[in-house]
Amino acid sequence: MFYTTIHTIHLLAAFIYGGFLFVDILFLTKMQKSLGGEKGAECREAIMVHVRKVVPYALFTVVGTGIIMFPHIFGKVGEDGMTNMQMVLLFKAFLGLWLGLRGFMQKVFKINPWLFKSHYFPFTLVVTIIILSQIMWVV
Ligand code: HEM
Repeated sequence: MFYTTIHTIHLLAAFIYGGFLFVDILFLTKMQKSLGGEKGAECREAIMVHVRKVVPYALFTVVGTGIIMFPHIFGKVGEDGMTNMQMVLLFKAFLGLWLGLRGFMQKVFKINPWLFKSHYFPFTLVVTIIILSQIMWVV
């Protein structure tokens, strides 16, 4: 029951975090362009005020619950080395932790990423992570 609860929270938080990136890339940036100038920036900021109260915490929740689940799923490395599933999970966890660290530095230390600044980068990572989360069971 504990594992199922953590797993469900992981999915919901990933949904909120990934959902925002999706909406931002597909709609908000376009809204800002259509409105243009000061009005565009003002409208975006009116939304971002609320986003900042939710989305970073969703990211921390995804990473935190992922870390809790990790040892259950990863298990032990056998004598023949890691299985394909373990390798894919490790890579997925690395990408997820990178996102988490990036978000943490931004939220807590106000350090903006100097590499891959746009939301396209985390969005691409989230899509990759979701695909890896599924294919790790069949590789
Ligand atoms: C933004 C980052 C992340 C996203 C979007 C994400 C997304 C997902 C998704 C969609 C699943 C599949 C769940 C299912 O099919 O039922 C999953 C499973 C899993 N994730 Fe993450 N994850 C992220 C970060 C992490 C991190 C950082 C770790 C570990 C350190 C992690 C560990 C796991 C594990 C162990 C599972 C397998 C759970 C299971 O199927 O029982 N995740 N994740």
